[in-house]
Amino acid sequence: MTQRLAGKVALVTGAARGIGFAVAAAFVREGATVVVADLNGAGAAEAAASLGESAMPVTVDVADPDSVAAMMAAILSAHGRVDILVNNAGIGANTPFLETSLADWNRIIGVNLTGAFMVAQACAREMVRTGGGKIINIASLSGQRGGNGRAAYGSAKAGLELLTKVMAVELAHANINVNNIAPGAIETEIAKAMHDRATRAAYAARIPMTRYGTPEEIADAAVFLCSDEARYIHGHTLNVDGGFREAGLMFTRDAG
Ligand SMILES: NC(=O)c1ccc[n+]([C@@H]2O[C@H](COP(=O)([O-])OP(=O)(O)OC[C@H]3O[C@@H](n4cnc5c(N)ncnc54)[C@H](O)[C@@H]3O)[C@@H](O)[C@H]2O)c1
Repeated sequence: MTQRLAGKVALVTGAARGIGFAVAAAFVREGATVVVADLNGAGAAEAAASLGESAMPVTVDVADPDSVAAMMAAILSAHGRVDILVNNAGIGANTPFLETSLADWNRIIGVNLTGAFMVAQACAREMVRTGGGKIINIASLSGQRGGNGRAAYGSAKAGLELLTKVMAVELAHANINVNNIAPGAIETEIAKAMHDRATRAAYAARIPMTRYGTPEEIADAAVFLCSDEARYIHGHTLNVDGGFREAGLMFTRDAG
């Protein structure tokens, strides 16, 4: 245990399970007090209980401004500040462009982009008041590359990556450090829902490291970006994807 986040108050959205939970657990290990926020209130309570006294559950729908305001009020009443935000809550679908309904589009943009915007703005206002902080937005490889079935999801994540850059430019003066993590294929419940057999085969052929990542591998990157060691990394997108984004021609020598 290195205690790199000792004394910090961190909010992780979508932390009842998956990547968010792994980030919350890593932050607790590093000495932070963590707010485990999720739409699934019972899941958030269970997750927070498993992390011990340093974790506090909050039920929130990040797509609902009143719910975000209530979450902020609960955090400020309990801890008086928020030093770190990991904007992780997200939903996905594997729906072809021609079949994407306006309702699907609005729902996915509403959580993944508008929700992240609202939570980031609320936290950044507090960080301005208290003298600084760290914000990580969890975007996606799907926001960088055109992939099957990702019209709404990929567009939301591309928007989130650009929002990260604007926030980095505008918030640097307030000592707020803003970065983006773009996970590749990570073995979680959302991946189970979005990745059918064809998707898994396509990923298998295109990931140089030839495997899906784990939630803990995203959490390790989040700890680094929230630590003092990353203080001059700003407005950056860190892909944690086993090399997917950078890969070009790939073959095995013995195949020829
Ligand atoms: N798993 C992957 O392969 C992958 C790849 C790239 C990006 N991501 C992104 O990582 C993040 C976490 O994904 P995951 O794989 O852990 O998914 P997950 O489905 O396992 O967990 C997502 C969590 O977010 C919560 N959530 C959903 N809507 C919410 C809302 N409106 N308000 C608050 N909480 C809400 C869910 O209840 C759930 O606990 C998401 O933003 C996702 O888009 C995941």
